[in-house]
Amino acid sequence: MMLINGEVVDQLAATDRGLHYGDGLFETIAVTDGQPRLWSQHMARLSEGCRALGIPMVDCERLQHEATSLVKGAPRGVLKIIITRGSGGRGYRVPECIQATRLLALHPWPDYPASHYEQGVTLRMCKTRLGINPALAGIKHLNRLEQVLARNEWGSREADEGVMLDPHGNVIEGTMSNLFIIEEERLITPNLTQCGINGIMRENVLHLAAQHQISTRIETLSVERLKMASACFVTNSIIGLWPVRQLDDITYQQNKIVQALIQTLSEQHLITMAS
Ligand SMILES: Cc1ncc(COP(=O)(O)O)c(C=O)c1O
Repeated sequence: MMLINGEVVDQLAATDRGLHYGDGLFETIAVTDGQPRLWSQHMARLSEGCRALGIPMVDCERLQHEATSLVKGAPRGVLKIIITRGSGGRGYRVPECIQATRLLALHPWPDYPASHYEQGVTLRMCKTRLGINPALAGIKHLNRLEQVLARNEWGSREADEGVMLDPHGNVIEGTMSNLFIIEEERLITPNLTQCGINGIMRENVLHLAAQHQISTRIETLSVERLKMASACFVTNSIIGLWPVRQLDDITYQQNKIVQALIQTLSEQHLITMAS
């Protein structure tokens, strides 16, 4: 089911700038028990993205109303919200009179196996690099060609997620997730001021760690440090947190800090394992 500008339709104007230029933003939100999870955090990032791109922020109350009606009664699902600058303009220049487009769609919940949480997942290094652009770093804009290229470097049986580097060879994130390592009982996640998406689950994990008196650092992270780390895990709003078991030829041991984070995120219903 899909809502476009409040109407139950599944077709968008071919002149939409989201299609022509990727001129817009999106949010991928977990739905449990008929409710979108972490709504206000998703809205805060969307609003930050609108500010960065100069798209007038959509009316959050109206968006929430539409989202609630779409996900009502869904025990689990994935709500995708796309906001584009709207329709119009053959060239890049933004026409003076333009109205943002809002598209909301409810997708099935991906039932990842419980073993992803219990034994951990397999990562591989991607060849495709992320480009540097501080003006677009952090926000969830629609231009995702780097992720599309990276994700198509491997088949689903070979690995569960890929690690992406910046042009200098620094580790930034996964193709669909943020990445953390544990080094001397400290939680470290890459700096996202030059590229990468500032994940909602990353924010939650950093916050949770601080509450548990686990020291956290946001730093430049080399591949060598990633490979020497005591543990590694990836996060996003749908998976919650996946511990990493294997990265190419490196095997990570189970780690008590990672186990404690999984336990707390499960208690907070931010991890939903397949039943
Ligand atoms: C490239 C990338 N980085 C990070 C994330 C994590 O973001 P969030 O925690 O907000 O889901 C995602 C999620 O889709 C992503 O696609």
